[in-house]
Amino acid sequence: MNKEQMNIVVVGHVDHGKSTLIGRLLYDTDSLPEGKYEELKAVSEKRNMPLEWSFVLDAFQAERDQAVTIDTTRIWFKTEKRDYVIIDAPGHREFLKNMISGAAAADAAVLVVDAAEGLKEQTRRHAYLLHLLGLKQIVVVVNKMDLVDHDAGRFNDVSNEVTEYLSGLGLSPMAIVPISARHGDGIASMSENMDWYEGQSLLKTLDRFVLQPRPVARPLRFPIQDVYKTEGERILVGRIEAGRLRVGDTLMFSPANRSATVTSIENWPEQDPPQVDARAGDIVGITLDQRIFVERGDIGSHVEKAPMLTNVFRANIFWLSDTALKEGKSYTLKLGTRSAKVRVQSIDHVVNTETLQHDKKTEIKRNDMAEITLRSREMLALDPYTENPSTGRCVLLDGFDTVGGGIIHMRGYPDQRNALPTGADNLYEVDHLLTAQERMNRNGHRGSVIWFTGLSGAGKSTLAMRVERALFTKGYQTYVLDGDNVRKGLNADLGFKPEDRAENIRRVGEVAALNADAGLVCLTAFISPYRADRTRARQTCKDGDFHEVYIKADVATCESRDPKGLYKKARTGEIPNFTGVSSPYEAPDKPELVVDTMKYSIEECVEQITDYVEKNIGLTQENTRDKIKAL
Ligand code: ADX
Repeated sequence: MNKEQMNIVVVGHVDHGKSTLIGRLLYDTDSLPEGKYEELKAVSEKRNMPLEWSFVLDAFQAERDQAVTIDTTRIWFKTEKRDYVIIDAPGHREFLKNMISGAAAADAAVLVVDAAEGLKEQTRRHAYLLHLLGLKQIVVVVNKMDLVDHDAGRFNDVSNEVTEYLSGLGLSPMAIVPISARHGDGIASMSENMDWYEGQSLLKTLDRFVLQPRPVARPLRFPIQDVYKTEGERILVGRIEAGRLRVGDTLMFSPANRSATVTSIENWPEQDPPQVDARAGDIVGITLDQRIFVERGDIGSHVEKAPMLTNVFRANIFWLSDTALKEGKSYTLKLGTRSAKVRVQSIDHVVNTETLQHDKKTEIKRNDMAEITLRSREMLALDPYTENPSTGRCVLLDGFDTVGGGIIHMRGYPDQRNALPTGADNLYEVDHLLTAQERMNRNGHRGSVIWFTGLSGAGKSTLAMRVERALFTKGYQTYVLDGDNVRKGLNADLGFKPEDRAENIRRVGEVAALNADAGLVCLTAFISPYRADRTRARQTCKDGDFHEVYIKADVATCESRDPKGLYKKARTGEIPNFTGVSSPYEAPDKPELVVDTMKYSIEECVEQITDYVEKNIGLTQENTRDKIKAL
């Protein structure tokens, strides 16, 4: 029977003894290549030096440097229970890169800490990375116990320090084992030197870890690697990252949102009987009953539980490049088999790994862990990492260089799938018997949407109501759609979760466009925090009929006004997802008008907006007359 195989990773600060530990692990488990030990011994004796276990790794390293893929020179050792693969060894350049990208997924980790030095910067960073990647099976070894006279007191101090740090990250190690890698103490067995230690050796502890099962129970994720075209047939090839698929299942491909039914799972040579289902971990080729356009990078899923669709998301990243990451910079994002251009919308915070506090910074330096918000032009299909790790991690490239990578989450941002048209059938548009021109002639102005956006307390409602009155007085047909009002009726079923806000704005965008179509100047006063939603509202209107007005006031100002006492409640946590406090606000990129309520009085602001309306929409202006004639 095949023994099971567990992937482990050995992490820790430089010089805390990772290489020595691995060399010794191989020796103690009889896993060294034939003749290696003798070779090492001879070299050491010749040089009159103690045997250096870390040299074992040099041989592997030489092979690895020549290897094309990391798979070819894996280091492994075995216990009675199972085989272990060290998926990455210290010193290996690609180490962090592979861990972050998921090229090497570990089941468990060994965190090495020097008994004399205790926790160091890299120990913390690596531990943070384990936390980020959700690796929960951890054993800590306190190494070089021989250098602290096998002192139990020192071991306890280091243990406490490690435990405290890890628990701050929500991690609790399976065990903390005192060892001396150089002397092989504590690895396969404990010597009398540390008879005060009551736990088990490192190997015994490792054997207590459990193998991570393939994520078969998760929703299906089938990223397309390639599409092979053979005589009349198209075979979609890829690795099933999660879930399972069967012949006869209807699959949906994202982001294109096209569906078709699986007609076969292809095998070569053909299988008898043919394969009818496949699951996470399998590399498969499938055919579909319809010729829908599917390309590399698309993700196949079932129709329910499809991945999220979004053009903006957050990532907790680990930065690997010497060139700092800055806001506004663009990179190539690799998300499974898809590549896309992304721009850094914001650096939300940098993690101080010493204190685990979040620092506000304007750039991210090499080895920093940070949270950023990324924006792409196209829709991306993805999952929050905690829901589906395989489609929830990403890598950033600058040119061809991997510069960072991390995990995705969507805190504060909605799934935009619902906002996409569903392509309903059997609908036939009916034409009005009135033209826009006729309505315009009667009203004296063009129907339009004046879209106010800004934080709660920025002044949207106040200004909208006053502008409504001012325009009415001047003879305009006008009406305000206001957030607090609309949420009592039309949108009474919606709250403030990101998806609810997106739906709120989708509906209001539609209603506003209808109002404009009816000939009104429709003023809308909604926070409308997401750019994507506002862009969609703009697209719902006829060209040129949508005018975005940024009612500008920063959080501090709005908070000091706090007309409804909501900021206060938001700060105490009484109101969750509060815009500007615990939920994002994306200021407009290029609004038609910016009205700064921190600088100008209410009257001045009203005037700025009415002036804008008169200039751009009112019939009294030459330019508008021309516009109307052109219609
Ligand atoms: S939007 O984000 O979906 O555009 P909308 O403008 O409709 O919001 O509603 C905002 C108003 O709802 C605020 O002015 C405030 O009175 C109230 N409100 C209640 N809870 C929240 C919250 N969590 N975030 C923002 N506003 C909230």
